[in-house]
Amino acid sequence: MTVKEQIEQLRSLLHQHNYNYYVLNTPSISDQEFDSLMRQLQELEEQHPEYQDENSPSVRVGSDINKNFTQVSHKYPMLSLSNTYSEGEVNEFYQRVRKALNEEFEICCEMKYDGTSISLIYEDGKLMRAVTRGDGEKGDDVTDNVKTIKSIPLVLHGNNYPPVFEMRGEILMPWDTFEELNREKEAREEPLFANPRNAASGTLKLQNSSIVASRKLDAYLYYLLGDNLPFDGHYENLQEAKKWGFKISPLMRKCHSTEEIFEFISYWDIERKNLPVATDGIVLKVNSLKQQKNLGFTAKSPRWAIAYKFQAERALTRLNSVTFQVGRTGAVTPVANLEPVQLSGTVVKRASLHNADIIENLDLYIGDMVYVEKGGEIIPKITGVDTALRSFMIGEKVKFINQCPECGSTLIRYEGEAAHYCPNDSACPPQIKGKIEHFISRKAMNIDGLGPETVDSFYSLGLIQNTADLYQLTIEKIKDLDGKGEKSAENIINGIEQSKKVPFERVIFALGIRFVGETVAKKIAKSFTNIDELINASKEELINIDEIGEKIAQSILNFFSNETNRTLIQRLKDAGLTMQRSEEERADYTDKLSGLSIVISGTFTHYSRDEYKAMIEKNGGKNVGSISAKTSFILAGENMGPSKLDKANKLGIKIINEEEFLKLIS
Ligand code: IVH
Repeated sequence: MTVKEQIEQLRSLLHQHNYNYYVLNTPSISDQEFDSLMRQLQELEEQHPEYQDENSPSVRVGSDINKNFTQVSHKYPMLSLSNTYSEGEVNEFYQRVRKALNEEFEICCEMKYDGTSISLIYEDGKLMRAVTRGDGEKGDDVTDNVKTIKSIPLVLHGNNYPPVFEMRGEILMPWDTFEELNREKEAREEPLFANPRNAASGTLKLQNSSIVASRKLDAYLYYLLGDNLPFDGHYENLQEAKKWGFKISPLMRKCHSTEEIFEFISYWDIERKNLPVATDGIVLKVNSLKQQKNLGFTAKSPRWAIAYKFQAERALTRLNSVTFQVGRTGAVTPVANLEPVQLSGTVVKRASLHNADIIENLDLYIGDMVYVEKGGEIIPKITGVDTALRSFMIGEKVKFINQCPECGSTLIRYEGEAAHYCPNDSACPPQIKGKIEHFISRKAMNIDGLGPETVDSFYSLGLIQNTADLYQLTIEKIKDLDGKGEKSAENIINGIEQSKKVPFERVIFALGIRFVGETVAKKIAKSFTNIDELINASKEELINIDEIGEKIAQSILNFFSNETNRTLIQRLKDAGLTMQRSEEERADYTDKLSGLSIVISGTFTHYSRDEYKAMIEKNGGKNVGSISAKTSFILAGENMGPSKLDKANKLGIKIINEEEFLKLIS
């Protein structure tokens, strides 16, 4: 394999794992495996800058930088803490500190809050800036969003704070807010947040700060930095900062021996379950700033502090069986059926096994005693097997199936993907039902009166086999079924009738093309006037659309090259669904840039980069990522990258500025 192919394979793998983790909430590999793949990619990219790609998964690693926020350098890098998991390691830390200092010292023990860290800059008692951790060196300026968090003071009390200082802490989403938010998301059929940490960091990155405000975030501050701090003690400084208006955790204790430290740890290991926010450990810090300075830092973390991580709550229970579920996309998910067991306040009966690799790594047998963990996650997972408890009575080894449990088709596994799929998408029952359920859902055709149960019963009765069959239903046909009265039958038929007005972009989304979510569907609808143009689009044309890469383009081509799908679309069209852009939408569009490939580079003053992208598309042009001989011109702001400039000059491509561009489309 060439380096380029290697890079491409790693990127596509990591994109998929990112998606599994952040969108589907079902990670299919461990964090360590993910990190190791990412490191491989980063190394290759470093060695081969010629294959650089703005959309590489590496651009979001260990960094939560989002191009929609301004990036700001941290005055002091935001380091992490080294983690320990046992009393022995805590002891080692304590002895190391003792030896290095060779004098009396205090250790301040405090909660390790499990949220997202923030740096707050105060000048003359006013909050000037709030920056996320980012990659540790620079982060996103999220000041407007942070200002909505009520527990963060905008203006300080008192008068003995330093003229300029930094306060760091953790932004948190309390458990009850998190649960409420997920309930709302569930009702709207949106993907749920896996834990309060993701919910907090996701919220902080919203573009609309009024939504942030409604999400009721909280914050604890735990680290004061700057010159002229009032005391030499970390603990004492935080107590003082409390008087300035900061929310400081009351759960702190200065310890003078390892016994006192272990007392604190074991007390909070239990009591933390009653706290309103998530915690995942205890942080131990040498209290004196002078001593901290003496101890210093390693490249990654301070030598004067460590984190002791709590053991995630887990339970031991029997694995009774493994079943395989087939979803709408044909993905087959293995589910472990467990002897019911109590875990962090709920009874757990099932756990996800994710994919074949995970099953293989666990080396599972039916009847095994397995460890189930919930951590901060919603879906419990099996993290290990107690092989010592395995008896000669043990059942069969758990193997991933080869045949679809629903329709018997031989399963396939796409290259670079962890999941197995049933390829029989036009006749496998859960896939058909799933497709219809997706089609009628709120964000797609939004058909009132129809839900998964009705779809299920219509399907079993042979009334519907696909989405087009819905438009053949009549009140007569359904009113006596399944205890449905005339009224509810009327509702359903009305809902189906109304759906014919649903705009083109949502029809595209409703078709359920693999990888075509809401956003991509919108982009497609903006690029093609009607469904026939889309059906006949070439790969090249598809890839030219913003957000559509090789993988999505191929999936769209596959979908439309399938005869069954084309017949279905013809029937939907005949039924009267909206298969073209509306008049108003069309009125908004011009063809002033039709046929032109335009690269955007640099920073702009009149409009944002995204706004320019939208303008290009509205005027019929294509915004492309990199310069090639086919590029029509470059829309350049300030500080256009030197390599781009060089390439443009070499290829003799015209460069125009903001004003010229605006004139061109006015
Ligand atoms: S002190 C130089 N104190 O844990 C280290 N961090 O792995 C300064 N965290 O990024 C951090 N609770 O997001 C500190 N009481 C606490 C903390 C805490 C949570 C997080 C923080 C940091 C990470 C370190």
